[in-house]
Amino acid sequence: MKATTLARIDHFLRPLATSLLPSSAVSKLYSRGRDSFLASFSTDVPPRFIPPASAEVSLWGLTLQNSIGNAAGMFKNGEAYDVVAAQGAGMYMAGTTTGAPRSGNSKGSHRLPFMPYPSSAAASNWLGLPNKGHIAIAQKISSLDRIAGVPVAVSVMRDPGMEYTEAMKLLADGLRAYGEARVDIIEINESCPNAGHGASDWNDTVGRLRELAEMRSHTGVSSIPMVVKISPDTTDEAVSEMVAELIQLGFDGINIGNTSTQYENIKQFIRPRERALFSWFTQNFGGGVSGEPLRLRSLELASAAVRAAQQQQGQHEFHVIRTGGISSAEDIIASQHAGVSFNQWYTGYFEAFGLVGHDVYKQLSRALQEM
Ligand SMILES: Cc1cc2nc3c(=O)[nH]c(=O)nc-3n(C[C@H](O)[C@H](O)[C@H](O)COP(=O)(O)O)c2cc1C
Repeated sequence: MKATTLARIDHFLRPLATSLLPSSAVSKLYSRGRDSFLASFSTDVPPRFIPPASAEVSLWGLTLQNSIGNAAGMFKNGEAYDVVAAQGAGMYMAGTTTGAPRSGNSKGSHRLPFMPYPSSAAASNWLGLPNKGHIAIAQKISSLDRIAGVPVAVSVMRDPGMEYTEAMKLLADGLRAYGEARVDIIEINESCPNAGHGASDWNDTVGRLRELAEMRSHTGVSSIPMVVKISPDTTDEAVSEMVAELIQLGFDGINIGNTSTQYENIKQFIRPRERALFSWFTQNFGGGVSGEPLRLRSLELASAAVRAAQQQQGQHEFHVIRTGGISSAEDIIASQHAGVSFNQWYTGYFEAFGLVGHDVYKQLSRALQEM
């Protein structure tokens, strides 16, 4: 079945399934459905929509046909570049990839646990970075037919749970391979809540970033813009410190942010009828929450990051990317006003895809022009 048809059917059935089925069954249904949906999505290339010239942005000398594109984790193995490029995305993000291939998290009979909260425009996941590894994805990227205005980014991470020296070596090999594959942007995932990262390890993170900054120069990728993706569960003060540190180390941007694990705070954004699903998932797996509950926080933190970057007043081109709860033209405008250079979406993207199929970016452009 075509991805657009599957998504449309799911859009109408999802509220019913999540209210009628037991939590465990909902999670299994949506965890299992993801792979087959992605397989269908990746082969369904629509006619190309080119966003209006007013949507174009220029970052680090690259031209992006739009100020929004997919967030990491959607196309972990480099799938569907031609699909989202044709839809009108301004950037394509593959990954997160690791040095060694990973099958992701399982617990009992649950594999790659995911839970949608359709009435709350949110979701939880505890996938644990399933991917085929840096080298395989670099090969895939090197064979892509690039489309003007849609640069290719990749999200990478040091292998969680692996001995440090070995993990850094694999990351260096990965960076080299991505350099050879001519990726346009590299994103360092320093914030996956499902693999032992979170908001609290910033001190360790600084040490790793210093090593990374060094590694960057001897792996031949120093001319490729490198941004660091952080947790939305970071304080405003910590974000300002991070921005200063990143600029000093020569990084080119910050992405705010990943999924959140502040369940107590997030609960207020989950509709009462979906709270049982939310409690069941967080109690059984933990995981990271995405979607609407992150919208205001991602804007506040991105605004703090922009202010911090402006205070540095360096010559170095540094951009703030906002990810978290973005779903509408109003969100894009709010980002623009805050000084955010680029937006990424995941949960809102699939919500929109269920409604309008491949016209996701076309509808967004239309709404922006009407504002
Ligand atoms: C199922 C799923 C898998 C994800 N995998 C990754 C990942 O591999 N790497 C990453 O940096 N972020 C990952 N994320 C986080 C998203 O990139 C994004 O930061 C987060 O979902 C917030 O954006 P949203 O509110 O638009 O969904 C994942 C999110 C979801 C829902």
